[in-house]
Amino acid sequence: MSESMTHILQNQEGAVLTLTLNRVDKKNSLTAQMYGELADALAHAQQASDVKVVLIQGHETVFSAGNDIADFLQQPPATQASPVFRFLQGIATFPKPLLASVCGPAVGVGTTMLFHCDLVYAGDNAAFSMPFVNLGLCPEAASSLLAVRLMGYHRAAEALLMGEPFMVDEALEMGLISRVLPPTEANAYAQAQAHKMASKPINSLMETKRLMKAAQTPAVLACMQEEGQSFGRMLKEPAAIEAFSAFMEKRKPVFN
Ligand code: COA
Repeated sequence: MSESMTHILQNQEGAVLTLTLNRVDKKNSLTAQMYGELADALAHAQQASDVKVVLIQGHETVFSAGNDIADFLQQPPATQASPVFRFLQGIATFPKPLLASVCGPAVGVGTTMLFHCDLVYAGDNAAFSMPFVNLGLCPEAASSLLAVRLMGYHRAAEALLMGEPFMVDEALEMGLISRVLPPTEANAYAQAQAHKMASKPINSLMETKRLMKAAQTPAVLACMQEEGQSFGRMLKEPAAIEAFSAFMEKRKPVFN
């Protein structure tokens, strides 16, 4: 199955469903429609007995610039049923193996979604950032919990309170990514790993993942709910409106 009239390409080969972010002219920034399609694809993959592994990938030059800022201004997520929250809930609770291949910038949710993936392969050009404070926002996708757990408080503070990017060497050392590859090879390597995983018994894969995640899942879901409430409120506040307007007008924001 493949679709051309969408910015999320879906391709199933054997038991591996690949979701490709395909909006390179806008740096794969994610609109509500794209979040909705990703959430629907995950819901389908969860139920489908012929899908054992899902792989999310971008382009060799860019993974994702995060939320589409113009789209967020036009249709901010109003409730927990909004496409963005459905997607975040979907990746946080997805019961089958979820892999990602990341090259180039991975901004905002481009990085935070990786905390929920089981294996992440990266091109050596990958750059990770969670610049929510620069946008008058707060963390999402339980990154305020998971970044601290993975990175330790002070490194997480550099990433979340300063909005500082970090590169593949640091991401590899902290365990956010599993392997670094040339950008032209990352997606193919992730595909090969996905197929290797899909050859294993699905019940073992799912039960192993469930056991590995069981202790932290309730805290992750509670954190995502609390972050979502704050994020939704802060989107309408002056700092975010100034940051978003500045981005659209290609100028530096001024926060009073
Ligand atoms: N939302 C909407 N449009 C975006 C976008 C976003 N998050 N990120 C990039 N774009 C658009 C740009 O407006 C530009 O559109 P234009 O060609 O119509 O002017 C196009 O994508 C290319 O972006 P550009 O900034 O010129 O590319 P770059 O290679 O110089 O930089 C990034 C790439 C990802 C580093 C940079 O685009 C960026 O920082 N984006 C914003 C990231 C962000 O703050 N995301 C929100 C997180 S919550």
